Amino acid sequence: MKSLVAYFSYVGQTELNRQIVEIEKGHTEIVAEKIAKLTNADLYKIEPAIAYPKTYADIVNVVRKENEENPKVEIKNLLENINDYDTVYIGFPIWYRTYPRIIASFLSNYDFAGKTVKPFCTNDEGSFGIALLELNSQLKGATIKPGLAIHGSEVEKSQDKIEAWVNQ
Ligand SMILES: Cc1cc2nc3c(=O)[nH]c(=O)nc-3n(C[C@H](O)[C@H](O)[C@H](O)COP(=O)(O)O)c2cc1C
Repeated sequence: MKSLVAYFSYVGQTELNRQIVEIEKGHTEIVAEKIAKLTNADLYKIEPAIAYPKTYADIVNVVRKENEENPKVEIKNLLENINDYDTVYIGFPIWYRTYPRIIASFLSNYDFAGKTVKPFCTNDEGSFGIALLELNSQLKGATIKPGLAIHGSEVEKSQDKIEAWVNQ
């Protein structure tokens, strides 16, 4: 059976080394593409039906509200064929110590029982935060493998780290 790399990645202003910087290609997207290339997996980018704002001031407000209210974030391009995959790599940026609510919403659409899940994230500090705890409680019955966390500024230099993790 095939593997899937499913990820969300945000393009706009983000926080890097505690500074606000403009990025043109998401850090998580760069890692996701590397993983898909190494594993020959299908690549699926999770996109919101309503695009997120591009400025840091606005995205921060949207994300804070989402974290408080935990809404089901509508996905533009919902994946139909998850049953074709037995291994699913799930990638996301850390947004306030856990995964974005769009990832929680994506996961809630499927039954992951019996699947192998390999989580990866990019961040600015603090590794996965509480994301792995949340993933374990959300994906009952899945086998969740050790995660890969990469600092946003290191994604281009992390080929060896990614390769070692993929092959472990
Ligand atoms: C709204 C927002 C909240 C964030 N919160 C955290 C956080 O709690 N911990 C952390 O390490 N990084 C945090 N970051 C930084 C991102 O996780 C980091 O820049 C990541 O590499 C972005 O990935 P992307 O380009 O794929 O979206 C935050 C960024 C944004 C925009």
